[in-house]
Amino acid sequence: MNSNKKIMLSGVKPTGRPHIGNYFGAMRQFVELQETFGGYVFIPDLHALITLQDKEQLKQNIIDVVIDYLAIGLDPKKVTFFKQSDVSAHTELAWIFNCMTTMPYLMRAHAYKDAEAKNKEVNVGLFDYPILMAADILLYGPDVVPVGADQKQHVEIARDTAEKFNRIFGETFKLPKEYIVENVKVVPGTDGQKMSKSYKNTIPLFATDEEIKKAVMSIPTDSKGIEEAKDPTTDKVFALHALFAGTDELTALSERYTKGGIGYKESKEILIKNISAFIKPLREKRERIAMDVDNVLEILEEGGRRAKAVADAKMDEVREKIGVKLY
Ligand code: ADP
Ligand code: TRP
Repeated sequence: MNSNKKIMLSGVKPTGRPHIGNYFGAMRQFVELQETFGGYVFIPDLHALITLQDKEQLKQNIIDVVIDYLAIGLDPKKVTFFKQSDVSAHTELAWIFNCMTTMPYLMRAHAYKDAEAKNKEVNVGLFDYPILMAADILLYGPDVVPVGADQKQHVEIARDTAEKFNRIFGETFKLPKEYIVENVKVVPGTDGQKMSKSYKNTIPLFATDEEIKKAVMSIPTDSKGIEEAKDPTTDKVFALHALFAGTDELTALSERYTKGGIGYKESKEILIKNISAFIKPLREKRERIAMDVDNVLEILEEGGRRAKAVADAKMDEVREKIGVKLY
């Protein structure tokens, strides 16, 4: 890795099949940025443990997500690709940050507030989620953290935590910045809400043609007839066209919406065709990679070794700064 390259770091939890919101909002940026940035893409498996406590399922999800990343073009020669639990420095640093973080500060974090509002049982891991994430980020000194809009607050917490540590113990951590692509910051799901694994409104990134069709057909529309004018800015089908249609096609579709002359059925059929054409090569590549799981695991293990070397060096500095390094 070229040493004067800027560094990116990000990850997506292995909690289920990634969807096109994860892809456009975050994962695609990892692949784009790997060309000009060096950096790290990792699998926050210990974050997944907060909600997923099933040994076989977690194992399978981790393997699946590694294959997913390789299938979208992540190149382990260009970025260090690893899993969080292979580098124990993440949890060690999280503890140190815990000791400098107040409860009221973490009570303002969205994930905790949402869970509280919905009367969900909140484990300490969920409450502390942003601090483990701060450790994930700060160990590696990234310049940018590509994420979807819903993760902005977490990156801000990482930045605050770095500032706080630096103030108490002296300059140690680089301040990270989120990298959010404006027009895909919130990809809508089939019900118009943010697409999310938790809302069951997703189009999986490696969906079969049948799944794509079913998902698109389930998008609710109003009762306007073919010739009636329609508003492309409020239609949930059109919102997805914006991701899959070429520029000219999108302009033409937009005109047909505003003037009238396209029905929702046709619009959905066009969308199904475009999504299928986009997903097919990805799905086929994924199937090829999945045939050699041993190779996939070797890539991850090797990435873990590289990440650990960087993180351990940083931890040594941290231990020295806080006063526990005696020899
Ligand atoms: P989910 O909400 O489906 O559980 P995650 O929390 O695992 O998704 O998010 C993984 C990454 O994908 C994060 O960077 C997140 O910001 C991004 N992301 C998730 N859903 C969307 C969406 N609908 N639009 C844009 N980005 C998204
Ligand atoms: N919280 C992120 C998400 O839900 C996942 C994550 C954990 C992450 N640690 C990170 C993302 C560090 C970027 C950097 O998607």
